[in-house]
Amino acid sequence: MSKKHIVIIPGDGIGEEITSAAIRVLERVTNKAGLTLTYEKQLAGGAAIDQYGVPLPDSVIRAAKQADAVLLGAVGGPKWDHVPPEIRAEKAILGLRKELGLYANLRPVRVSPALIEYSPLKAEAIYGVDILLVRELSSGIYYGQKCESEIIDGIEQASDVEVYTVPEVSRIMHLACQAAQLRKKQVLSVDKANVLATSRLWRRTVNQVASEYADIQLKHMYVDNCAMQLVLAPKQFDVIVTNNLFGDILSDEAAVLTGSIGMLPSASLGNGTGLYEPIHGSAPDIAGLGLANPVGTILSAAMLLRYSLGAPELAEQIEQAVDKVLAEGYRTADLYKSGATKVSTDEMAGLIEAQLG
Ligand code: IPM
Ligand code: MG
Repeated sequence: MSKKHIVIIPGDGIGEEITSAAIRVLERVTNKAGLTLTYEKQLAGGAAIDQYGVPLPDSVIRAAKQADAVLLGAVGGPKWDHVPPEIRAEKAILGLRKELGLYANLRPVRVSPALIEYSPLKAEAIYGVDILLVRELSSGIYYGQKCESEIIDGIEQASDVEVYTVPEVSRIMHLACQAAQLRKKQVLSVDKANVLATSRLWRRTVNQVASEYADIQLKHMYVDNCAMQLVLAPKQFDVIVTNNLFGDILSDEAAVLTGSIGMLPSASLGNGTGLYEPIHGSAPDIAGLGLANPVGTILSAAMLLRYSLGAPELAEQIEQAVDKVLAEGYRTADLYKSGATKVSTDEMAGLIEAQLG
């Protein structure tokens, strides 16, 4: 019987409820398959600021590096909005990405058939949308040199520098091409090459890498056009690969096409331990009330099985169980409409667990 060790970082706000929900589902599906998971909880984000004065203690980084995978809820909240920038709760996520070498963020955007009517787009525009957004995660403007404030000629200014190297672009493009080979074999690279030097290097490198993949069809699009096309005709996309900042923005836009950001999972991959988290935030206003939608975290646990534990068949079982429960009309508060059956965070997890037999 095989054994794997998972670090759980609930984080803040609804983090505790949604990670507990995902563990229930993970337990059910792995027990049945003879896979034993052990769990270790760690504090990060606001919870760690309260306890240790820093958002990401070294002990958490060490534990994460030694684990087979990390499952994270969400971090941050208004309680920590006024701490100095270098210890903001978000630094927990940014630090983990850097320390674990997580250079690729995979955000699948898929609409559960039962939820088509929740999309802000017309049903015919959204039906069948299946996008994999691949976001560069450990470089670019997020990690470039920053100046919070300086006075030049009597005028205050701030700056953030964007740097990309050829190897950084090359490795994310390889990953995007390999992901596309398992899908429709189309890669769209998104940049702003008409204005930015980093984007021109990005485009040259992407072209170079694509020449090694004869079966992949590569196209380029400027980010402003991509933002528009995502709401006009989202079915045209298969794999989208883009830099850290554009990926952050486009993934929120793509996510909401599905009607609710509460549903979407993500995987952050690199050379070591993978990190899995829903793409929504910590929603402190509803924490502890059983109102949170655990599906984004449960589907993140499915991605964990697929990418870190080599168990794609177990991931599919979870994904199918989620679709079934939604098709039966069960909804958490965020998606409730009259005619549906309203359930709490725990009840939703229980229903998905029950589907797994
Ligand atoms: C995300 C989030 C993070 C980011 C924040 C919390 C730092 O928005 O994962 O998309 O900007 O990367
Ligand atoms: Mg974001």
